[in-house]
Amino acid sequence: MTNNKLKLEDMFYGTTFDDFLLRPQFSILKTRKEADLTMSLSRNIKISTPIVGANMDTVTREKMMQTLSLEGCFGFLDRNCSIEEQVARVRYVKRQHSYIIENPTILPRKSTVGEAKKIVEAQNVGGLLVEDEPGSGILAGILSHRDMLAADGNYGEAVEKYMTPFKKIIYASPTITTDKAEKIMLEKRIEKLPLIDGERRIKGLITMRDLRLHKNNPYSTKDSKGRLLVGATTGVTGNYMERAEALIRAGADCILMDIAHSHSEAMKKGILEFKKKFKDTELVCGNVGTAEGARFLMELGADAVKVGIGPGRGCRTRLEVGVGVPQLQAIREAYLAVGDKIPVIADGGAKNDKDIAMALICGASTVMLGSMLSGTDESPGVVAEDPVQKRKVKIYRGMTSIEAVLDSTGVGANAGEILRNAQAQEGQSISVPYVGSVRDVIHRIRDHLRSTVSYSGEENLFNARAKISVSPAKYLTRLSGSSKRESWDR
Ligand code: XMP
Repeated sequence: MTNNKLKLEDMFYGTTFDDFLLRPQFSILKTRKEADLTMSLSRNIKISTPIVGANMDTVTREKMMQTLSLEGCFGFLDRNCSIEEQVARVRYVKRQHSYIIENPTILPRKSTVGEAKKIVEAQNVGGLLVEDEPGSGILAGILSHRDMLAADGNYGEAVEKYMTPFKKIIYASPTITTDKAEKIMLEKRIEKLPLIDGERRIKGLITMRDLRLHKNNPYSTKDSKGRLLVGATTGVTGNYMERAEALIRAGADCILMDIAHSHSEAMKKGILEFKKKFKDTELVCGNVGTAEGARFLMELGADAVKVGIGPGRGCRTRLEVGVGVPQLQAIREAYLAVGDKIPVIADGGAKNDKDIAMALICGASTVMLGSMLSGTDESPGVVAEDPVQKRKVKIYRGMTSIEAVLDSTGVGANAGEILRNAQAQEGQSISVPYVGSVRDVIHRIRDHLRSTVSYSGEENLFNARAKISVSPAKYLTRLSGSSKRESWDR
């Protein structure tokens, strides 16, 4: 490491997660449940659980993104799709929850029940507001889930026949507070409260489902309007600026500019162009595996650096091209290079909850997970039965695996050429055990991280990381071959 203010400590050369254990410290917590885990994802975004869903098409699409943000984590939608598809996913998540839905979906009264059904299913909403003339925005009624059931398959009929008409609707002014809205909704036993101005023009909607969700998920990752935060990925070639602009317009809160080797001329051009046009949008950049790479990204204006060259379960970079840095060493190098100026996202290689803890106490602020989240209900793809092992599995694949490359380009006339290119890539497909909801995975990780904090002698993760990452030799024990066997062989 040249020109470094802080030199990598000898103890970290060639090391990764299995090489250390934390020495237990005198604990000050009455119960580990008290331990706060809030960390920075990027310069201006904090999350209450430091877990980030990988931008992979078998990990983070709309369901995973929504659940991770609800659970106080974060994620990045992958870019292995058209701009339109990715934008639709951003919009989907941004619409799912908010204190006040500012632009509720509105349907003209003459629309058919069939049209309403399609919208309800596509947007995963419980009901729709109905307007008078198309485009007028004048509230005519509400079509609820129950009204749709009453329509009983009469898909060709107009929604006005089944909606609750305006004269029977309870509504409020757009300036109402959420507390007051909740009171009215409880008293009147209604699920939806439309907000209208003096001319009956629709100005918003408050739903009981959203209010309940906010109460039940106080730590979720939200913007000031109560909408879930969304991350989305771009590259640095082709139409990447067009993609970034479309994603930001659709409401993406943080853009990840992600390429395999970020310490590069291509990334430099990408960051400079991006920051020139979107200086206020949070930009995460990766991947790098060295101090020089991390500093390079920080100096160009990245708001967080993503660290990891080849540790992931879907990666073949180390095997195929002999390039990489052991992941704990890479995290440590990056942390020493950027200090607390911008956060480090440790990306790849975490197989157990203790790996996440080790990444964090050695300097990462958050940890990106691919395979650990991929066997869940919320990841894209279907659950299959492994005929040999007789267990349920899902498919997890590297983004440069043959399968992912073919999916992104489509199998057309040039499939042979695409396949030849894909075979020179550095990703692979594997099957992972199906483990149920990602919520359970996150809850387990959270509990384990809280235990680590308790053992560290601190009351929160921020302080544990601050203390240990400054003097790792004091708090970590490097394991010998026999102590590794004692620790990990079970
Ligand atoms: P884990 O270990 O959590 O790793 O499954 C997730 C990370 O792996 C990276 N990734 C790849 N790396 N070729 C690579 O060299 C690939 O095809 C590939 N696909 C994903 C990525 O950084 C991800 O977050």
